[in-house]
Formats: sequence, structure tokens, C-alpha cells
Amino acid sequence: MLDFHHRYVPPDTPGASPTLLLLHGTGGDEHDLIPLGQMIAPGAGFLSPRGKVVEHGAPRFFRRLAEGVFDLEDLAVRTEELGDFVTAAATEYGFDATRVIAVGFSNGANIAASMLLRRPGLLYGAVLLSPMLPYEPNQQPNLGGTSVLIGAGRTDPIVPTSQVDRLAEVLRQAGAAVTVHWEPGGHTVARGEVDAALGWLRSLTPT
Ligand code: MLT
Repeated sequence: MLDFHHRYVPPDTPGASPTLLLLHGTGGDEHDLIPLGQMIAPGAGFLSPRGKVVEHGAPRFFRRLAEGVFDLEDLAVRTEELGDFVTAAATEYGFDATRVIAVGFSNGANIAASMLLRRPGLLYGAVLLSPMLPYEPNQQPNLGGTSVLIGAGRTDPIVPTSQVDRLAEVLRQAGAAVTVHWEPGGHTVARGEVDAALGWLRSLTPT
């Protein structure tokens, strides 16, 4: 059941993979990251859901108690729900569920990180832009075979660099191949991150 508002853009070549799962930041929607997807993976298929939690009118993917303080019970439930949506969408639209790469910004990156930790193997890879470590996992997931690109800003007022380092460390300890791209700036998608994501995706999925 496709129980998220979403957009699905089929790939230019029917059956082509990967499919990018586009996850917007707080206050975004299902339209937000389509242009970013088209820049970093021209011609790919895109699945772009809108977060179901609404905070003062701003859609998000899970509840928070304060800036950077997450409602972890809600995050667990929403992560499972989003994972089930991706699987159902693969059946509905006929894309390869084993070749889905999440591309998330901020709150979208945080739920993508939670998907990696809670549902290892669901994502083939992830581009996490301005992410945090959403929680310290109790058990180490097995992320062998999963590739992750982290894009982060050294002067991000929301995410301290130590959070980014810890996220990379947790993912690496779980067996993921992690690349970290630093920008000098803040909580935004910088041109350098777009270029880094384009190159990273090309090397991951050569045509
Ligand atoms: C979050 O709530 O996921 C992070 O603090 C980023 C944000 O959305 O502001």
C-alpha cells in the first residue's frame, strides 16, 4: 500500500537502476529534491515521498522534541513505515528493490541513516547531506556491501562536526564503505556536494 504522498519519476530507460529515494528536509515536500536527483543521476528513476509528520506546518519524516533531540520511538515506527513503502513502491512501479539509493538532506538524511541502521540491506547505498547520527544503535547492523557518501559543512550551526565523524565511524564499523565530503559552509546543499554525489554515483553504478 503506497500510503505516503509521493512522486515517482520512471527512469528514461525502462528497467534501468538504481532508483533514487529522495528524502527532503524539514519543511520540504515530494517535489523538493527531484531537481537535485536529476543533477546527480540524470535519467534515473526517482521515488520521492513526503514526510508524514507535520511540525508547525512543516512536513518531516519523524517527530523531534527539540532541535537535534529526536523522538526515538516515533523514529523507529516511521523508519519501518518508510522501509515498507519503498518495498511496496518497487512492486507497484516495477523497479529493482535491491538497487535503491537514498538521497536525503537534513531530516531526510537522518531518516535515511536510521533506515541503514534498522533495515540493513534495504538500501543499496545512501547519499546523506547534512546528516546527524540519529541514535547510537544497540546492536551493530551488518552493512557489508552498502556504500555511503556523507556531505557535511564544517560550519553547520545545526550539526557539529563530531556528529558527522561519529556517524561515519558507526557506519564504517558496521561494514559500510563510507566516503565523507566536507564543505566549508553550513546546513545546505553546496555545489561541491552535488558534484561529489554525481561522481560518487557514477563510480558506484557505472553504465
Ligand atoms: C532533524 O530534525 O532531523 C535535524 O535537526 C535537522 C532538521 O530537520 O532541522
